[in-house]
Amino acid sequence: MSEQKAVEADEVSEAQIAVHWKEEEFIYPSPRFVSQALMTDPGIYERFAIENFPECFKEYADLLSWYKYWHTTFDPSDAPCWKWFVGGRINACYNCVDRHLDQYKNKAAIIFVPEPEDEDHQILTFQELYVRVNEFAALLRDFAGLKAGDRVTLQMPMTPELPITMLACARLGVIHSEVFGGFSGRSCGERIADLGSRVLITIDGYYRSGSLLDHKKKADEAVAVAKDEGQVVDKVLVWRRHPGQYASQTPMVDGRDHFVNDLLADYAGKRVDPVPLPAEDPLFIMYTSGTTGRPKGCQHSIGGYLSYVAGTSKFVQDIHPTDVYWCLADIGWITGHSYIVYGPLVLAASSVMYEGVPTYPDAGRVWRIAERLDVNIFHTAPTTIRMLRKAGPDEPAKYNFHFKHMTTVGEPIEPEVWRWYYDVVGKGEAAIVDTFWQTENGGFLCSTLPALQPMKPGSTGPALPGIHPVIYDEDGNEIAPGANAAGNICIRAPWPGSFQTIWGDRARYVETYYAKYCQDKDSTDWRDWPYLTGDGAMEAEDGYFRILGRIDDVINVAGHRLGTKELESASLTVEEVAEAAVVPVADEIKGRVPDVYVSLKPGHDASDEIAAKVKAAIDDAIGKIARPKNVYIVPDMPKTRSGKIMRRVLAAISNTMEIGDLTTLANPDVVEEIRIVVQGVEKLATRKGPADIARFGDE
Ligand code: WTA
Repeated sequence: MSEQKAVEADEVSEAQIAVHWKEEEFIYPSPRFVSQALMTDPGIYERFAIENFPECFKEYADLLSWYKYWHTTFDPSDAPCWKWFVGGRINACYNCVDRHLDQYKNKAAIIFVPEPEDEDHQILTFQELYVRVNEFAALLRDFAGLKAGDRVTLQMPMTPELPITMLACARLGVIHSEVFGGFSGRSCGERIADLGSRVLITIDGYYRSGSLLDHKKKADEAVAVAKDEGQVVDKVLVWRRHPGQYASQTPMVDGRDHFVNDLLADYAGKRVDPVPLPAEDPLFIMYTSGTTGRPKGCQHSIGGYLSYVAGTSKFVQDIHPTDVYWCLADIGWITGHSYIVYGPLVLAASSVMYEGVPTYPDAGRVWRIAERLDVNIFHTAPTTIRMLRKAGPDEPAKYNFHFKHMTTVGEPIEPEVWRWYYDVVGKGEAAIVDTFWQTENGGFLCSTLPALQPMKPGSTGPALPGIHPVIYDEDGNEIAPGANAAGNICIRAPWPGSFQTIWGDRARYVETYYAKYCQDKDSTDWRDWPYLTGDGAMEAEDGYFRILGRIDDVINVAGHRLGTKELESASLTVEEVAEAAVVPVADEIKGRVPDVYVSLKPGHDASDEIAAKVKAAIDDAIGKIARPKNVYIVPDMPKTRSGKIMRRVLAAISNTMEIGDLTTLANPDVVEEIRIVVQGVEKLATRKGPADIARFGDE
């Protein structure tokens, strides 16, 4: 219906173009799911109504064990750096591990599935996790000299040593910052320098698509890059993928590098009391891409963050301690922190972690794991769903697994893909939640509560209890639900999971997330500080939100955020390159991928070698996840008279979309030359594209 209206309107806004799928019918959860669900009381919305802010969040905080209860639920005095549960004392590791021992010590906490199918699963019971976390915490304290408030950088892949390391840090109050294993050593080094870590924790190798990758070499590069930026790493702690073997080709550096498995012998049987920490102390820093070059270190608190992931894991993920829960994300991203490690473990669930590629060695792998472990809650992203569907649309039916609940997260999901997920993966039995949120948010912002509301394919659903979204137009006017117009989705009131600041850059925190719609920068009233998500969205009359994608220069590649500026500055390190511009191009599996346009310095001709150099520079600066779909060498960039590159024009060419107005261009003729480089001589039919691409790089 909305599509219809959009087409009929005289002037179709770019945001409306995104509405390329129609309103969908509701699908109701099965009575069987509802009968066992943890949240079936519609009164929760009343309890979390905005009038009950902030005390309503006590309901989530009460899911945790506190050493000392807080005296102030919410302290806005340093707006917009909100503080939650002030005066409270808590330890995240105690909440995820120790407190479950009485009831569940012999139950699986983490089930690790190695990528090689002939290697046995590793099952860590809560008791085993307790022992290993304690021993490693003792090592961190006594060998590495780390204490509460220190920062440590991790670059670890999906093996159990990663959650063990995170929990050991949390036990001591050491702030961990995990860098996705697939990122380059250089990205890791930049994050070390930003954070001022003097300890790096890594592993020698891990499996990906059948090969044992040399991971330790990234640590050497990271330490070198950090040193160039002024930060000395004096200890590199190296776990081993196979104890007793060394998976890397790079030598250990004497005095700096230490094998964890060897050192641990000295800490056997050691116990470390969890440190009762102020609730508003930082638990971890997670970097994410922004509009400018430097990634932002999002700082998450202990008490607020853990309360929010506990509440959402319980009521949105419907996690019971008896469930076998599998989130197929990587712990190197926020989804893995909140919904592989902290959320499930705080609720004493059994959390599955898989090392490798979902389709390795074949399209049935994921479903074999689900069958073998009898997984009943499954969590993944649209890009993986698309990939699994393409690789083996009929595979799930061949395996005897039954999910009661499934999640999709990270990007908008096409209704058609959603339906395959529901019918074929969920076998029509599973309730689906489409959870919308961001690294900055700690936990879900929008989603149905699965037993209380029906699903609508392609819509994330309504806001969660205690989350109060509002859609503003550019001038700050509210766009009403059902107005059939899109705008910038903001959140009116704070919530405990929200990050506290950008590490070391409060001004950037205020500028990026609050400046746009803040009326009074001196106010300490939260009502003056709506949080800007940076996403375009529309709200249907029924209160369900549809997320349309980023409104800034961030490209969401397979659910991972990449800043175009990061790719552009990497491209500019190639000496022949004069200018670079990066735009998103729609991709069947990954949602969006980057296309890179470069122009060359005088005296150089376009060649495959230069294009290959640009790709290599991006691999080196960021990692393979950022690898562009195409590198186009063009005669010049389309520019405004003031010299700004018009990325919107390049995005339109990459996506065979209508190019639109060129009157502000200083060099309109170059557009056709670029189009020929990309599309060939013959003029292709153009279409209206999705909003995030249509307005990409809006001047
Ligand atoms: C996008 C991932 C549509 C959005 C948890 C957001 C989504 C960015 C959804 C955050 C969803 C996340 N539907 N879009 N359900 N979930 N996004 O920080 O653009 O890696 O701003 O956090 O992903 O990505 P991030």
